Amino acid sequence: MNLNIAVLPGDGIGPEIMEQAIAVTNAIANKFGHKIQLTYAICGADAIDKVGNPYPNATHDVCMNNNAVLFGAIGNPKYDNNPTATVRPEQGLLAMRKKLGLYANIRPVKAFETILSKSPLREELVRDTDFLVIRELTGGLYFGQPRGISEDGNTAIDTCAYSREEIERIIQLAYSFAQKRRRKVTVVDKANILATSQLWRKIAQEIAPKHPDITTEYLFVDNAAMQLIQNPKTFDVLVTENMFGDILTDEASVITGSLGMLPSASIGLHTSVFEPIHGSYPQAAGKNIANPIAMVLSAALMFEYAFNLNAESQLIRQAVDASIANGIVTVDIAFDKSYTTTEVGQWLVNYINKATI
Ligand code: IPM
Ligand code: MN
Repeated sequence: MNLNIAVLPGDGIGPEIMEQAIAVTNAIANKFGHKIQLTYAICGADAIDKVGNPYPNATHDVCMNNNAVLFGAIGNPKYDNNPTATVRPEQGLLAMRKKLGLYANIRPVKAFETILSKSPLREELVRDTDFLVIRELTGGLYFGQPRGISEDGNTAIDTCAYSREEIERIIQLAYSFAQKRRRKVTVVDKANILATSQLWRKIAQEIAPKHPDITTEYLFVDNAAMQLIQNPKTFDVLVTENMFGDILTDEASVITGSLGMLPSASIGLHTSVFEPIHGSYPQAAGKNIANPIAMVLSAALMFEYAFNLNAESQLIRQAVDASIANGIVTVDIAFDKSYTTTEVGQWLVNYINKATI
């Protein structure tokens, strides 16, 4: 099969973890006889420095003209403490999500048996945790109008808006995932307060009876934040709006031991994007210490969701499991000896090269 992939390494540790994900992707292509065509494009602070725009049109064209996008990370500390910056790297990510119509962000959270003790939670709470967060990605507070700071600088407004259509498509997607899993959907909202959440819950209650074989549970977001810590293994598919999903997935990521392990898939109207959920981690940039696993597992999601190549995706996951079980891991999840980003990537590549399929 011909696999045409847009590659957007971005900022911070993005380029170094991307290098390993591409090495793994190439190894998989060789093993299974696929032909890979990579097209690199700029984004984030890197693109602001080069062309003044964090998601240039040329980059958008590259994304639209390929079958999948692998995305590293964006962000640069020089913008973080400057709330008045008019062009920010994050705007590039939001523009990409909006222009590619990426309304669903799927974030799988799965515990790895051999590093359970790296979790801040007790091992018995974390063991067998395996759930998906489906985060709505192109609506809510991130995009609602009006927004802005008043001319006198003394008031500010953000708008949380959702339409029936936006809510229906994301909730239906949650049911289609639950159907293939443990058949439970948890709808997370703040319907005791927010109008958007009340519409969200009303629509969920219309859709739920159409899936009698799936259990539907409703949680307010504050309660969900607590349940995720107290009882992570009770979740199967959790669906929620954009901002709640952003916050809950950072929380969920540490359950499994490191933010450096969680991949994501953003799917929607045009080309799908596969990206780790961690950010650009500027403190580690260029040091060859960043964990490449979230990026590598994002490539695994790409094989599965964008190309429907499940054996390929499975082999990547198997290689990652083996590297963790053998202690070939970066410092964030190491017990004694730790390995560099490139050493972990190379180990995965060797594992794939040697595997029999
Ligand atoms: C994420 C990130 C982004 C978000 C930032 C970088 C804009 O935190 O993908 O979760 O808030 O969506
Ligand atoms: Mn986030």
